[in-house]
Amino acid sequence: MLIDVFTLFPEHFEWFGGQRHVRNAAEGGHELRCIDYRDTTPLKGGRVDDTPYGGGAGMVMRVDVVDAALRGAYGDDGSGVRKIALTPGGRMFDEGLAAELVGEQHLALLCGRYEGFDERVIERLADDAVSIGPYVLSGGELAAMVVADAVIRKLPGALGDEHSAVEESFSEALGGDPEYPHYTRPPEYRGWGVPEILLSGDHAGIREWRLQRSRERGGGA
Ligand code: ADE
Repeated sequence: MLIDVFTLFPEHFEWFGGQRHVRNAAEGGHELRCIDYRDTTPLKGGRVDDTPYGGGAGMVMRVDVVDAALRGAYGDDGSGVRKIALTPGGRMFDEGLAAELVGEQHLALLCGRYEGFDERVIERLADDAVSIGPYVLSGGELAAMVVADAVIRKLPGALGDEHSAVEESFSEALGGDPEYPHYTRPPEYRGWGVPEILLSGDHAGIREWRLQRSRERGGGA
């Protein structure tokens, strides 16, 4: 899988690219690239934004700037690339969308800045508009990292332990419910114990206990 992040701040992704699961994915042939809007902007002085029509505060990312960056990367035909604009007004990101996106060969994550994108970016250039939550960030970079992280950890081999992404919160294995609680040594600490069943060696009982806790956390019985 190739994930391209379009941003004004490629350096923000240096830390992310160094994370173990991202490096594991890279060793497995996957790639995370950053593309700087300023490298292809048709405007003078590396400009990428403009004042909003109709007035109002802040600056808006221009559609011609985003289009130039996409064309610079993909030419006239970006049809094989799933292009996602990160914006607070978009569809809420969740585990289901992460599972869908990991099936793509090529993703483009478009980060906005300032007041966001000219709406034509969302209407004409992107396939989806996605939000990571009902709050406004100062740009799409953190949102792009959240989306990339949730997707990359689903790639086979990214987590090292093949099983760790199968039975975790919101997975199919848990019927979409949050994950059950975990405990580890010591079995007692400051008088705080561990559920007896987990120390019993009764694997069927442990399984039932875990599924039950998971259902409870999901609001079920
Ligand atoms: N850009 C600014 N806020 C955002 C959010 N909540 N989700 C995605 N992109 C954003």
